[in-house]
Amino acid sequence: MDLFRKKDINVLLARQSPLKRTLKTFDLTLLGIGAIIGTGIFVLTGKGALTAGPALALSFVIAAICCGFAGLCYAEFASMAPVAGSAYTYSYISFGEIIAFIIGWDLILEYALGAATVGAGWSGYFVNFVGNLGWHIPKVLTAAAGTTPGVTTYFNLPAFAIIILITSIIAMGINQTKHLNDIMVTIKVSVIIIFIAATVWFVHAKNWQPFSPYGWYSFHKGTASGIIPGASIVFFSFIGFDSVSSSAEETINPRKTLPRGILYSLLIASVLYVAMTLVMTGVVKYTVFAKFLDAPILAVLAKTGQGWLSMLVSLGAILGMTTVILVQLYGQSRITYSMSRDGLFPKFFGEISLRHQTPYKGTWFFGITTAIVSGFINLNILSELVNIGTLTAFILVSAGILWMRKKHPELHRGFKAPGVPFTPIIAIAFCLLLVVGLNWETWIRFIVWFAIGMCIYFGYARKHSLMNQETK
Ligand code: ALA
Repeated sequence: MDLFRKKDINVLLARQSPLKRTLKTFDLTLLGIGAIIGTGIFVLTGKGALTAGPALALSFVIAAICCGFAGLCYAEFASMAPVAGSAYTYSYISFGEIIAFIIGWDLILEYALGAATVGAGWSGYFVNFVGNLGWHIPKVLTAAAGTTPGVTTYFNLPAFAIIILITSIIAMGINQTKHLNDIMVTIKVSVIIIFIAATVWFVHAKNWQPFSPYGWYSFHKGTASGIIPGASIVFFSFIGFDSVSSSAEETINPRKTLPRGILYSLLIASVLYVAMTLVMTGVVKYTVFAKFLDAPILAVLAKTGQGWLSMLVSLGAILGMTTVILVQLYGQSRITYSMSRDGLFPKFFGEISLRHQTPYKGTWFFGITTAIVSGFINLNILSELVNIGTLTAFILVSAGILWMRKKHPELHRGFKAPGVPFTPIIAIAFCLLLVVGLNWETWIRFIVWFAIGMCIYFGYARKHSLMNQETK
């Protein structure tokens, strides 16, 4: 049997989808921003500033360039094959089944584990927010065991609860998902703009000096520091734009709207990130963030004395992370829906609710699993797995564009990535740079995850693949 048997793109395009088409460019852009802006800007900027100094803004630019080039490749694929499944489906068309399975398996790290990680970040802001309102959640229920040294915790109840709540919304249908996402994204972006406008007046240029205390790459107190390691950290902030492409079958005129949704959301997020980082490091000396690692934005407000803004910003952070979880869980359910439809995952994951027109069983399966993981497991270390999973997907999608341009130049593309072959090659080079920057434990965990995936592929997926019938 051929491990690299491929899906015919024309067959995929001719297939009728039972999902409802309601999304337009504006919705997709909001969906993208919903997926992108979250833990990265609200939590990781503190660690990023300590790693790169005020030059963190440049780290964001580097991560944005990496994602921008990969985003162009995603956009071309999305316009060429506007079917559900994102990188998984693209790999099935260009590289064949086994690579597609690997990517689908790998995307669980990006989406489900990503949602679990963001759930834990959400919980931190939520516990603070309700604490200010006088509602104290028992400490033991605010984090997974072993998360905070010296503090006894057992279970992250807020993280568990928010993931279950979001899962029920996604299971109800894309319209409900869309409206809720639109409202929360509007609030989150408004809060960021208000924050920038209110604090920019307190910027002191002397805080930007030295601008790049650790250069491009150096070791400071035994830790990789500088602009490049900073970029590896804040790469997490951009994860999510690709999930726009997983809504291809629910999009009106996807060949045009998908690429626009991806690129607009990436651009808007990048501008907000760079502006926000410059303001943050301009108001507060970057070393101060060491004391505010969980909520670096509050360091800025403490300096400016704008206490009134902190509740508003916390609310923006909570809503911001809510939409990230929403889009990630949504993307996860659509990927497994596609894999199930192709026979690589059990039918269970592909069953569509007649009432809501959503793959509700798969949605609930991953919702509950993610909630449990987020509630019980200390995700500080595991979150690097999210990065490696995502970077691997980016590399394969970019390589897929090179391949498809060579092998299938005749296919209609609503959008063509400019500068091919350089665009995908640059994307791959940047991704590899960021992968190499990850620590070796992450590599081991990734290999273990990969090995489990291979057992499932050879034990189940290969025998049940629809390709067995299609290629007979
Ligand atoms: N980009 C997403 C975030 O920053 C995952 O939370």
